[in-house]
Amino acid sequence: ELGFFFPREHTLAVIKPDALEEHREEILRRVREAGFAVTRAKETVLSREMAEEFYREHRDKPFFGQLVEFMSRGPCLLMALAKENAVEEWRAMMGPADPARAKEEAPDSLRARFAADVLRNAVHGSSSREHASAKIRFVFGDIQSDQGPELGREDRA
Ligand code: PPS
Repeated sequence: ELGFFFPREHTLAVIKPDALEEHREEILRRVREAGFAVTRAKETVLSREMAEEFYREHRDKPFFGQLVEFMSRGPCLLMALAKENAVEEWRAMMGPADPARAKEEAPDSLRARFAADVLRNAVHGSSSREHASAKIRFVFGDIQSDQGPELGREDRA
């Protein structure tokens, strides 16, 4: 158990509605194969209000309304993923937000494979440890979002 020397980090990952409907098992298989532990998971239809809060840092962007509408259209799978360097590794595994770029720059990424366009782009992941902690707290309540092998073992999905 190397966890003692290399403490785990958590990130918040989301499988978005279209991808959850069509590619759930394949995405979850890749998550497991990449060595992430799913320490918390919740499948839910986000209300508009929750989606607005979730994406609040994008509220002034022209696509905000579309993004909120899309994310509240059907069930999402929200997960806390744990691994060493989880934030960066999950973002690398997702690839760029725009699938055209993803196919060029990261052909093995989830978005290269499963994204339809920059809106319906299959997955989300926190952009920093700070965002990860805040989003995990927002989605799952006040759990300990750093390290802690007990956390992972108990709730590993
Ligand atoms: S930004 O502007 O650089 O912060 O945007 P980016 O990090 O690339 O994307 C933030 C999230 O917004 C989504 N996005 C879009 N949705 C709809 N239309 C357009 N044009 C668009 N551009 C970006 C993008 O998929 C990101 O979603 P998440 O869930 O955070 O990956």
